[in-house]
Amino acid sequence: MTESRAISAAFGTDLHLEIKGPGLRAGLMEALREAVRNGRLAPGTRLPSSRSLATDLGVARNTVADAYAELVAEGWLTARQGSGTRVARRAAAVPARRAPAPAPLPWQHGRPRPGRPLHTLHPGTPDLASFPRAEWLKAARRALTDAPHEAFGYCSPRGRPELRAVLAEYLARSRGVRADPDRIVVCSGFAQGLLLLAAVLRGRRVRDVAVESYGLDAHWDALTDAGLRTPALPLDALGTRTEALTEDGGPRPGAVLITPAHQFPLGGALPPDRRTALVDWARASGGLVLEDDYDGEFRYDRQPVGALQSLDPERVVYLGTASKSLAPGLRLGWMVLPPQLVDEVMAAKGTIEWASSTLDQLTLAEFISSGAYDRHVRGMRLRYRRRRDQLVAALAEQAPGIRVTGIAAGLHAVLELPPGSERAVLHAAALQGLALQGLDAFRHPDAAPGRDALVVGYATPTDSAWPGALDALCRVLP
Ligand SMILES: Cc1ncc(COP(=O)(O)O)c(C=O)c1O
Repeated sequence: MTESRAISAAFGTDLHLEIKGPGLRAGLMEALREAVRNGRLAPGTRLPSSRSLATDLGVARNTVADAYAELVAEGWLTARQGSGTRVARRAAAVPARRAPAPAPLPWQHGRPRPGRPLHTLHPGTPDLASFPRAEWLKAARRALTDAPHEAFGYCSPRGRPELRAVLAEYLARSRGVRADPDRIVVCSGFAQGLLLLAAVLRGRRVRDVAVESYGLDAHWDALTDAGLRTPALPLDALGTRTEALTEDGGPRPGAVLITPAHQFPLGGALPPDRRTALVDWARASGGLVLEDDYDGEFRYDRQPVGALQSLDPERVVYLGTASKSLAPGLRLGWMVLPPQLVDEVMAAKGTIEWASSTLDQLTLAEFISSGAYDRHVRGMRLRYRRRRDQLVAALAEQAPGIRVTGIAAGLHAVLELPPGSERAVLHAAALQGLALQGLDAFRHPDAAPGRDALVVGYATPTDSAWPGALDALCRVLP
């Protein structure tokens, strides 16, 4: 006999127990042991009184009292006058809780290796330990206190008006975006924005969206899955050759996906004449530019490169995200759209009802308008810049043959390796427990194999892990 019974404990905790076997007392004991063993009942948890548990289970009170007494004798539970029956602090066989290994990011190639790496310098994430918990909590409290009742209802897929108003002001001020709250659609990160735009482009009978020679295959896959082809634009020492769009024999896409402020992963800014060439192409052909401004806030040595969108807000879609400036786990991003696209994007979004959580949106609005976002970004900019300088200094001292590029901005650097050595360096790193990614993992299938290099995410480790990760990196370099 297997019976599942839910305990509605007097202390406001519900516990689902599977009582198995013929004897109720033995079955209850085993169910409680199992709940302790697998961590569902944490040490110190107060259990319901034998009376209320007996009532919930529909058994005699003595059955529960006897089961509790035996589990106390076995060391699983403790019973003290006045504090009831609790799970023992050191209950036998409680498995130690280990932090789960981080899930691989969509762009992390290759087979997962057994065991966790000791260090990771994968690009793609900010230092998650630096998430501004206290400030975020303050903003969340204020947002929750001030939220109108209607905010707790189903919300518009366009996003909360409070957040769109704050974003319009922030993006104009900090990134030079020509933004109007009515043109903004809030999305679950850049990734969702891209999916929606892919659906809209496909609906408009676009066949090709040109992409850069280096980028994220997760983004190319999102476009391909929507039925679009992704020819790669050529690349030279100055960056993506946007002028190829108007050259004889060049690609003839309906849209271009590009990272103009900070090419991912190579790190350069698109030169001014190529920015102009791109916008000229869009105007002449009726094409659309999808501007991925994933880490525009982090620029160290020069004035920030403003958003390309400001050159022509009617032809450029600006896509931003909180994934680098705050944390990818928030899943908050935004699109600033040409007015004629807003309804189509909304229609694409509305059919799937993908609205982001209202409370998170209101919290972000409060976080930005209170100045906490600017303070956080400025603080992180200093910290990442310090790490970048430490990386450059350590390489100069310990691996003087390695050239570092793409370091004026962002959270990663490209380390040029001797020709033919990329795979061997990655292999050596893996053996030492250092998770690294090579440049080749970001190469578009259309692009010819390029130089050997590493893409090093120096923002990824926590402050305490960073020195060890840097040492490990220097040890595996030729
Ligand atoms: C090139 C690029 N674009 C966009 C993003 C942000 O994606 P999302 O906002 O979906 O987290 C990333 C994240 O790593 C990225 O590397």
